Amino acid sequence: MNHLTRRQFLKGLGLSLAAGCFPCSLTLAATINSAPEQAATTLRAAAKRAGLYVGAAVQLRDLKNEPDFAGTLIRECNLVVPEGALKWNVVHPQYNQWNFNPANDLLAFAKAHGLRMRGHTLVWHEAFPDWAKNLLTQGYGLSLLEEHIEKVMGTYKGKLLSWDVVNEAINLKDGQQQGLRKSPWLKALGPDYIAHAYRIAARTDPTATLVYNDYMLTGEEGQKGAAILALVRSLLDKGVPLHAVGLQSHLWAPKTVDVPKISAFCREVKAMGLDLYITELDVGEQDYGSDFASRDKLVAQRVDEYLNAVFSECTPREILTWGLSTRHSWMKDPRYFKTNTRAEPVRGLPFDEDMQRTPFGDTLYKALSALPPAS
Ligand code: G3I
Repeated sequence: MNHLTRRQFLKGLGLSLAAGCFPCSLTLAATINSAPEQAATTLRAAAKRAGLYVGAAVQLRDLKNEPDFAGTLIRECNLVVPEGALKWNVVHPQYNQWNFNPANDLLAFAKAHGLRMRGHTLVWHEAFPDWAKNLLTQGYGLSLLEEHIEKVMGTYKGKLLSWDVVNEAINLKDGQQQGLRKSPWLKALGPDYIAHAYRIAARTDPTATLVYNDYMLTGEEGQKGAAILALVRSLLDKGVPLHAVGLQSHLWAPKTVDVPKISAFCREVKAMGLDLYITELDVGEQDYGSDFASRDKLVAQRVDEYLNAVFSECTPREILTWGLSTRHSWMKDPRYFKTNTRAEPVRGLPFDEDMQRTPFGDTLYKALSALPPAS
């Protein structure tokens, strides 16, 4: 793989802005431009027809080092989210240290190829450095929250489509009021940290759609979904500027999707006048031993069940998978995916290791294509 330096990558982007193709290699440019007849059958074309955004979480290094990966993203997506570049531990590694280079480069790449970018995430209990946790315990929580949101959102003011302002604030197991997660934020500032975050975000970038993002809404017999709805409703009742709910949508192949619960949740979100986004769709597996064909069939079935449950109630303006290709997925990392103890290849994304569309991807394409065309 040709490993571009940051300078080469950015220089190339300058060329690509002119030439309209990715700088990494001529073959890649040819790949992107060589199959106009395929354009109509890409995820990006289907999303465009429906007037919405389809995309994936990516790491900049993969785009820089893998022309086939970058070409697939450009061809199939019109939205991208940094998998890590806008998280606190990357963008604000020390109190007086900021690092916007990875996110800037990803935004430049997106702009050079007609993709939008969304932000993930400003307030979360993970990827949260110890120096920041210490300041929270010393009473600097609100000033730290303000400084971080104003600096990070302010840097991209008017440039990002939406932001996961607060991520995963609900965890019923922690036994806190409203089912809130016992995060450093809750401990330092109480439940109002959430309202503070959205108010600071709204005044910092009034152009961005502000999203509350969470996972496993059917968990605990649907109690988690009920807690998310109650949290969102309480924020809206206080006039907190919140515009959408992000369903992370990490599905589990062995488990049939609870269609009634998902549909009911979507109905409630829409009834509150909010948008609903699918922000991190992928399908985890337990059986790495079977042949890909049988695994792909089960994965695609879960995606079909889930998209039908959501699309029966609403049309998400943003639909993202958490990874584009199984070549790069958190589901291969045993640190995060406890069932994948040997970092086995996975099948739960729209493109495989060779950048070929999987039955997951075919199912997503069919669901997007069945949506009513944008008016
Ligand atoms: O970049 C460093 C590398 O320099 C270092 O050598 C290596 C050693 O551990 O770490 C690398 O950083 C890792 C980073 O991913 C980039 O690969 C971090 O350790 C690792 O903790 C981080 O994991 C990410 C995780 O969120 C925590 O931020 C996963 O890639 C990412 O897929 C996962 O994504 C989350 C969403 O943000 C929220 N929803 C759930 C989803 C899956 O857990």
